[in-house]
Amino acid sequence: MTTDQFTFTVTKTDGAARTGEIRMPRGVIRTPAFMPVGTAATVKAMYPDQVKALGADVVLGNTYHLMLRPSAERVARLGGLHKFMNWPYPILTDSGGFQVMSLSALRKIDESGVTFQSHIDGSTHVMTPERSIEIQGLLGSDIQMQLDECVKLPCTEAVAEKAMRLSLRWAERCRVAFGEQPGRAMFGIVQGGEVERLRIESAKELANLDLKGYAIGGLAVGEPQDVMLRMIETVEPYMPNTKPRYLMGVGTPDDIVESVRRGVDMFDCVMPTRAGRHGLVFTRFGRMNLRNARFAEDTRPLDAESKCAASNTYSRAYLHHLVRSNEILGMMLLTWNNLAYYQELMAGLRKAIAEGRLEDHIGEVKEGWAKGEH
Ligand code: GUN
Repeated sequence: MTTDQFTFTVTKTDGAARTGEIRMPRGVIRTPAFMPVGTAATVKAMYPDQVKALGADVVLGNTYHLMLRPSAERVARLGGLHKFMNWPYPILTDSGGFQVMSLSALRKIDESGVTFQSHIDGSTHVMTPERSIEIQGLLGSDIQMQLDECVKLPCTEAVAEKAMRLSLRWAERCRVAFGEQPGRAMFGIVQGGEVERLRIESAKELANLDLKGYAIGGLAVGEPQDVMLRMIETVEPYMPNTKPRYLMGVGTPDDIVESVRRGVDMFDCVMPTRAGRHGLVFTRFGRMNLRNARFAEDTRPLDAESKCAASNTYSRAYLHHLVRSNEILGMMLLTWNNLAYYQELMAGLRKAIAEGRLEDHIGEVKEGWAKGEH
């Protein structure tokens, strides 16, 4: 059942982990949730119906890409992003700050916002906190992210502190620009690099803004996994436990399991889709690179017990051939397998938390990965 309000209910906890539901007019997101990335109004190589059938309740769209092509105004004239891409369920949009930093050339950041050149045609654009929220509104996004500054790690404490404080000021401006929208949410983003003191301050100050959800940003940007996990443990006590917690841009199946264990509710990552386009698959038995010659005559499917047709039907030999030949179907099948595995992983975590057996479950999952190709 959906509601006209944006609500989050935790139904069960197990240690720091929680399972619950985010409700909004366009649907219910079961948490912990993995959000497939649909950067340019498409989850690459997948039909929207397939994405939904695998168990995804929400997909992620990108302000940066859509503002440049086809433009937020055009998407709005065409009826909004849900209609445009034929995905009637919840959509979360990233604010653009992170993508400007990683993709565009010649960017300049100051108090007002970011000026940058498009990676597509070199045209100059200005992104302020207000414009980011305006664009996300034009797209019709259900969960909108504040504009933030994400620094690459490692960086000096001074650089991390400056970006964190700017992100806090931008969070306030985004909150004002967003106003009151009962069926939608605007999330703040905790920054602060690898510095515990800065992370805590960021989380506390954002909590004072009483937003509908909170993300942890600036992680999985080159630091080792133990640093990332320590940052999650550091901020978790300061992130209101009545609000969803979203770890941005993460990650591998192991990153996800370890973060769920530490209280994270939402994830997004290009990993399953991007890896699928490059011959890499994720299964219950760990990773396989289908380009590898050892699969050339392997008649087994990726995972005979999987419910996904891409995983239980086609031989590894056939998939190896498609990948080596650069065939479109290869990318489609591997992406399909990978998203199926990620959603199966999330469903398993949700069930284990609900049954109070998360630690045992994680042990079993990791044992499976350790088996290798079985
Ligand atoms: N995606 C991954 N990390 C980040 C981050 O720190 N900020 C934003 N806006 N998006 C991200």
